[in-house]
Amino acid sequence: MNPVANLACLLPKAELHLHIEGTLEPELAFRLAARHGVSLPYADVEALRAAYDFSDLQSFLDLYYAGANVLRTEADFYDLTHAYLARAHADNLRHVEIFFDPQTHTERGVAFEEVLGGIRRALLEAEREWGISFKVIMSFLRHLSEADALATLEEARPHLHRIDGIGLDSSEMGHPPSKFARVFAECRELGLPVVAHAGEEGPPEYIEEALDLLRVKRIDHGVRALESEALMQRLVDEQIPLTVCPLSNVKLKVYDDMSMHSLRKMLARGVKVTINSDDPAYFGGYVNANFVACVESLGLTEAEVIKLARNSIEASWLDSARRDALLAAIDDTVEEWRAR
Ligand code: ADE
Ligand code: ZN
Repeated sequence: MNPVANLACLLPKAELHLHIEGTLEPELAFRLAARHGVSLPYADVEALRAAYDFSDLQSFLDLYYAGANVLRTEADFYDLTHAYLARAHADNLRHVEIFFDPQTHTERGVAFEEVLGGIRRALLEAEREWGISFKVIMSFLRHLSEADALATLEEARPHLHRIDGIGLDSSEMGHPPSKFARVFAECRELGLPVVAHAGEEGPPEYIEEALDLLRVKRIDHGVRALESEALMQRLVDEQIPLTVCPLSNVKLKVYDDMSMHSLRKMLARGVKVTINSDDPAYFGGYVNANFVACVESLGLTEAEVIKLARNSIEASWLDSARRDALLAAIDDTVEEWRAR
């Protein structure tokens, strides 16, 4: 392997943009379908994986929401999250901040507690066994109404002590951040940190709305910021982190191929960029695969992959003690790697 790609894989890192429903590998989808006696409209695992060929965000979301139908019980959500965390551990992730979409499940009659309980049981276990710290981010679906989001927040109230923040995802075009200004204000009043997907397919104005109206301190994706010099300058000045997902962007045709990706350009411009996997079961790889693809296609240097790993820790919601410990662990790994 390219030595810089090798270093990227070895470095301790955090993942800040991961939809737990997007970690459903075809093998597990078939196992869960069998568990519940339901059939999937695909002959086998290979046929399902072959269907993961997308033209844009919506073509992916249609499959992603259909796939979630096999997730029904606490045990299903535990199995899903446990499988992701085993991959995270193998990729040397030391901290994860993961999204879950309660509306995808509660509207099918799955209880909120089954979803959150199963996810958290696996997270707590991985924290004990592998030392992976975590935050759980409840994400609203932006193709639904703000009233739906407000009702979801009400439903979440008894569980808020086990939810660390709020996000906004799903179909971006036609659903600007401004649609959710009131529910985000309520979340902020509850003391919850907020993030939002913006500038994945949507224009730079959606990123500005997320910053100004939703008052997010971190943007998920944000790659279309590059179309506005004023916004780029603001991201640099305010050091607003972007949770960029390179393999996702290529799979969903935001870029024609990885060599066209703007990640390296944004990093050079001084934007606080991080690398994440988004929906790794659908997009062809977890965090290390994203790093390797960027090193190989963009020619990232040793200094750049170290910066990206450090950014992932600095852009997290960790307290300063754990943040400092993980940054020191990065330094140690670099030193060992250089001495090898
Ligand atoms: N939900 C899951 N993955 C998503 C993405 N990449 N963009 C918007 N919503 C999503
Ligand atoms: Zn996402």
